[in-house]
Amino acid sequence: MNTQSDPRLLVIPQRLAGVKHIVPVMSSKGGVGKTLLSTLLALAGADKKLKVGLLDLDFTNPSTHIVLGIDPASIQPVEEKGVIPPIIHGIKYMTLAIYTGENPTPLRGSAINDAFLEILAITRWGELDYLFIDTPPGLSDPQLNLLTYLPSRIEPLVVATPSPLAIRSVEKLLKVLIEGNYKITGLVENMSNNSKLLKIAEKYNVKYLGSIPYYNNIDGLIGNLEALRSSQFYGKIIHILKGIIRA
Ligand SMILES: Nc1ncnc2c1ncn2[C@@H]1O[C@H](COP(=O)(O)OP(=O)(O)OP(=O)(O)O)[C@@H](O)[C@H]1O
Ligand SMILES: [Mg+2]
Repeated sequence: MNTQSDPRLLVIPQRLAGVKHIVPVMSSKGGVGKTLLSTLLALAGADKKLKVGLLDLDFTNPSTHIVLGIDPASIQPVEEKGVIPPIIHGIKYMTLAIYTGENPTPLRGSAINDAFLEILAITRWGELDYLFIDTPPGLSDPQLNLLTYLPSRIEPLVVATPSPLAIRSVEKLLKVLIEGNYKITGLVENMSNNSKLLKIAEKYNVKYLGSIPYYNNIDGLIGNLEALRSSQFYGKIIHILKGIIRA
């Protein structure tokens, strides 16, 4: 099907009309902390009494529910002229895992496009201050769809580590976003004890939202919200959220 004529493309902007800021958390490389960051930014926003949503667009490996410590298959979303996202820990939440559980979802090409259009066309977010979106690594179909279908709505947040193997690739991602005139929320440096990427943020005139050290206990806290909330990692997330709100 020619997606340009897909009626869902007309519905999606309406579904997102009440969302003030749509913040896809993106990275040029995998495993840099997008899932942890997007989920905890949503949680910190909810704790601050902001109206927040969290959308998991990593269709192959949805994992935000693991951070939230919930079984997505146990959620029964309410269907009423679309789907009303369940509220989990104060967050309006949507993930393909609600429908697929822990079954593998090896989607490709048009199936990814279809899942993208469907999840955005059915979900009724209502009024939100922030909708954080977890994305797969790099510039694969879900991110390219966001860039293509919602160019003036999205405000990407870029996460990177200071590895020499990552620096050129984060520059490439920033170039794509800048050349496309996207409003960039900022850059977060993860698993870093200094601010090596500050130079990159300055070079591209992007807000440097801060760096998060490597905490070797973090994996043991995943799924345990109280432990996460009292972690140093969460302190950094709150700092980053303040920077996002001020932007
Ligand atoms: N600051 C940190 N300190 C220690 N471990 C971290 C930190 N940030 C993330 N991690 C760990 O790194 C791993 C990857 O994190 P996460 O899954 O959030 O990355 P991702 O960018 O979403 O990965 P993918 O690209 O595969 O989706 C996880 O085990 C996570 O707990
Ligand atoms: Mg991830």
